[in-house]
Amino acid sequence: MGEVIGVILAAGKGTRMKTKKSKVVHKIYGKELITRVVNTVFKAGINDVITVVGHKREEVEAVLGDRVKYAYQDELLGTGHTVMQAVPYLKGKKGKVVILYGDVPLIRPETIKKLIDKSIADREYATILTAIYDNPTGYGRVVRDIGGNVKAIVEEKDATEDQKEIMEINAGAYCFDIEELILALEKLTPNNAQGEYYLTDVIKIMNEKGLKTGAIIVEDNTEILGVNDRAQLEMLTRILRIRINQKHMENGVTIEDVNTTYIYDDVEIGMDTVIHPNTTIKSGVVIGENCEIGPNSYIREGCTISDNVKIGSFVELKKATIGEGTKVPHLSYMGDCEIGSKTNIGCGTITCNYDGFKKSKTIIGDNAFVGSNVNFIAPVKVGNNTTIAAGSTITEDVPNDALSIARERQINKENWNKN
Ligand code: UD1
Ligand code: CA
Repeated sequence: MGEVIGVILAAGKGTRMKTKKSKVVHKIYGKELITRVVNTVFKAGINDVITVVGHKREEVEAVLGDRVKYAYQDELLGTGHTVMQAVPYLKGKKGKVVILYGDVPLIRPETIKKLIDKSIADREYATILTAIYDNPTGYGRVVRDIGGNVKAIVEEKDATEDQKEIMEINAGAYCFDIEELILALEKLTPNNAQGEYYLTDVIKIMNEKGLKTGAIIVEDNTEILGVNDRAQLEMLTRILRIRINQKHMENGVTIEDVNTTYIYDDVEIGMDTVIHPNTTIKSGVVIGENCEIGPNSYIREGCTISDNVKIGSFVELKKATIGEGTKVPHLSYMGDCEIGSKTNIGCGTITCNYDGFKKSKTIIGDNAFVGSNVNFIAPVKVGNNTTIAAGSTITEDVPNDALSIARERQINKENWNKN
């Protein structure tokens, strides 16, 4: 079959975002729209990716670096013209090219694979992704013949009244035969209502040449939603939130409120763990089985939490390793720390990990009992079976089995308020 190359269109202006930045560098759950599309293309098994950039190209290049190749579109003359800019990379190649939009970030790798697989199995020169919309206004309509074969895509502004009745729309993801795509692009003209080179005209051009084209109807319409303004950015964030939370629930995690549980990509959570509302868990965090997290907890990057751990309300963890059965039940900041197993961290405990210049580590052993409102001035090491008195500010290491008290003695001035 030859190779599969990816082309991502990302030269558009994003006017409705009202932004000084490139639209595609805006983030959903900490990852730029364009990064999400590129990651998905890689996950679909496509390693050779060309991104067509234009407006604010340097910002897109700064984000993607050398993971992709770049083509440039200086004037926005339509999606066909955008793809033409990538042709120098496609010339002489045999195989398939998958074309996606940089502002449509929730498409799944499986969907891309299905497009490629169908184009090969059914020997199609173009396989497009489509969707059925109750309100198709604004989208390209998919024109099929009586036999159901895809014949053309007609843009809204060029459509006849009859064609506007069609509810199957072009979703904006395509798999083409490389050689025939190049030939068809050469035949594009801007003779249409918008004066643009339409990528979508390629379907009709191929059909006129007798080349077979086809379509897959996307199963989940949320995959093909694009981001054109801030409200859509929020909507897609919400869709991704539910999608990620559902995956964890399928794996045996209890989530009390899917609407206020913000789990970023690539988080591992063990079975029977319960996540209480208003909790944020950042990418890369690993949480064991049978833990309780939240409410109102913030588990930041670099945390590993073992089984049977309780992280209670208003706790912030960063680069924290927490041993089995340990409890951090309320109102603590534990950053750059290693805590052993079966240790209890009292309310209001803080690791003072930053001296204004560098970050330092706090290490606490197993079976320690840390009273309320303790400050650990890092770097500091606290042994096993230790007790730290409430209100202590710990600046020196504490040996195993010790009680450590580090606070001012209380003075009572008697009769102070008597006269
Ligand atoms: C396009 C399709 C339409 C489909 C719709 C799905 C064409 C002619 N029409 O509509 O059938 O229903 O997508 O959303 O292709 N871009 C560039 N340079 C350009 C023009 C566009 O980089 O000169 C990029 C945009 O940044 C965007 C993508 O291509 O990421 C699609 O452009 P957009 O204007 O949203 O699509 P339409 O032409 O409206
Ligand atoms: Ca769009």
